[in-house]
Amino acid sequence: MQNDRQGNGNGAADPSRIFEIGFGFFASKVLLTAVTLELFTILSDRATTGAELGRAMGLHPRGVADFLDALVALGFLEREGDGEHGLYRNTELAARFLDKASPDYIGGILEMCDARLFGFWDDLGEALRTGRPQNEIKHGGRSIFEELYADPRRLEQFVEAMAGVSRGNFRALAGTFDFSAHDTLCDLGGASGLLAVTVARHHPHMRCITFDLPAVEPIARRTIERAGLDGRVTVHSGDFFTDPLPPADIYTASLILHDWNLAKKKALIGRVHAALPEGGAFIAIENLIDDGRRHNAFGLLMSLNMLVETGDGFDFSGADFRSWCLEAGFRHCEVRPLTGPSSAAIAYK
Ligand SMILES: C[S@@+](CC[C@H](N)C(=O)[O-])C[C@H]1O[C@@H](n2cnc3c(N)ncnc32)[C@H](O)[C@@H]1O
Repeated sequence: MQNDRQGNGNGAADPSRIFEIGFGFFASKVLLTAVTLELFTILSDRATTGAELGRAMGLHPRGVADFLDALVALGFLEREGDGEHGLYRNTELAARFLDKASPDYIGGILEMCDARLFGFWDDLGEALRTGRPQNEIKHGGRSIFEELYADPRRLEQFVEAMAGVSRGNFRALAGTFDFSAHDTLCDLGGASGLLAVTVARHHPHMRCITFDLPAVEPIARRTIERAGLDGRVTVHSGDFFTDPLPPADIYTASLILHDWNLAKKKALIGRVHAALPEGGAFIAIENLIDDGRRHNAFGLLMSLNMLVETGDGFDFSGADFRSWCLEAGFRHCEVRPLTGPSSAAIAYK
């Protein structure tokens, strides 16, 4: 029999998981700083010495080798050779997702994590003690969107961040959901317009509307124009809690329901149900928490992020979504996995 102090075979005596998570902010901040400094974009498809890279990013020589080699050890850079002659290049992962020139760039959300969330999460303890948000709205009376959108740079940053985090899910939805029986989709809180554009691109018979607050409209127009989809994708500005929803036989809402408290979640679900024709569908894309609330750590952490960002918003499980939608009058619901920790929760009228 094994001595308990040495380990009982279930790994409980090895504290490395505790260190990995406890020191996780070291690794997190190295990656976020690299994205903010545009390291992966500067490298692009070149191989460059550390000294050259340090100069290109405007860094003091003191920390450059440790910074770059930490990124090698973490799997975001490769290094050929050692010492001052070593040449750094992007790994395949970094080249695809962290170089701004790549169509799959997702760094926007990491730029926002670095500029906003990293600091706000320092006050998680206060959020837990008070139940209050810890971001820009902590000391003012404005809502999070009023606050974010009052500064055009922050508005662009937020919308770009959302596109980064959601791009893979939009492609997965466009590639897997059967749109053949439908012809109009309205994306509620569509931000950059990326979901509407992605579905329209994959399904030439679909007409798509991206619906969001007026401040976001110029950015959505830009996305649609760049995609060459003017005409088939349109922008509709308004407030989804108070304005009539444009007619559609599918409503989508990506990372929308989790922004709001239960009463507002139910109000929005009720409005969508009322606007849908029979046979229509409501698709909510979220980091759905597993029904037993044990496994989807990212969904649970995202829910804490909603505490930090909004105060009363929270993430939820497929079972929660189902109960709210059945209460609103939907016939049945299903959950389909999208990318990573995200899923589509679908309610049919
Ligand atoms: C968390 S973002 C999600 C963006 C996008 N759906 C995605 O997944 O990338 C929430 C969006 O809801 C929009 N929004 C917030 N309140 C709104 C309202 N009352 N009416 C319409 N849109 C709203 C915001 O402007 C923002 O674009």
